[in-house]
Amino acid sequence: MKITLIAGSNREGATSTSILRSIESLLNAQNISVTFVDLRELPLPLYSPDAQAIHPNVQRLAEAVAVAEGLVLATPEYHGSISGVLKNALDYLHGGLVAGKPVLSVSAAGGPMGVSSLLHLQSIVRNLHGVNSPEWISIGAGFHSFGSDGHPSDEGMRGRVESAVGKFVDLTRKLTAGVEAAI
Ligand SMILES: Cc1cc2nc3c(=O)[nH]c(=O)nc-3n(C[C@H](O)[C@H](O)[C@H](O)COP(=O)(O)O)c2cc1C
Repeated sequence: MKITLIAGSNREGATSTSILRSIESLLNAQNISVTFVDLRELPLPLYSPDAQAIHPNVQRLAEAVAVAEGLVLATPEYHGSISGVLKNALDYLHGGLVAGKPVLSVSAAGGPMGVSSLLHLQSIVRNLHGVNSPEWISIGAGFHSFGSDGHPSDEGMRGRVESAVGKFVDLTRKLTAGVEAAI
């Protein structure tokens, strides 16, 4: 199984990127092949439908999404929505790259929960014809600390992340098996 993780914060030490690293480690422990795209390290030009040439960083993003059987998208909650950095990256994608693939949405918020950004993210996934995973992950105020093992310090949060990742992996396995059976 191949999973691509996309970190949508442009902030050094971002909580949403840290939780994505924790998810990467959970996936690695299951021998799942992971590609990590950190948009802070892979800056993309502002999307324009008029652009003629494909920027190499855009090519790398598209390839990482194309080879994936499932995606995990992480965003900071900005003004009740997703970050501009992540939205810009998603504007480069099209249904052909995402259709039928499970997507796990993750947010980090300054308030108690980042539900607005998660709802917006799931709406974008729906419009890219992706399949929203049954659970999502919101890291709100009071849950931004991580242990030396890279996982959330809070036991409850750790359990919620493991549960959401487990359901996402399960869904990806089922859909991938279904696609292979149909070929
Ligand atoms: C421009 C901006 C807008 C924000 N808007 C919200 C918001 O609407 N709701 C909220 O709970 N937190 C908001 N925050 C706080 C961030 O969600 C919080 O700092 C979060 O940890 C950022 O994610 P990151 O650590 O992954 O970069 C905002 C922060 C910034 C810089």
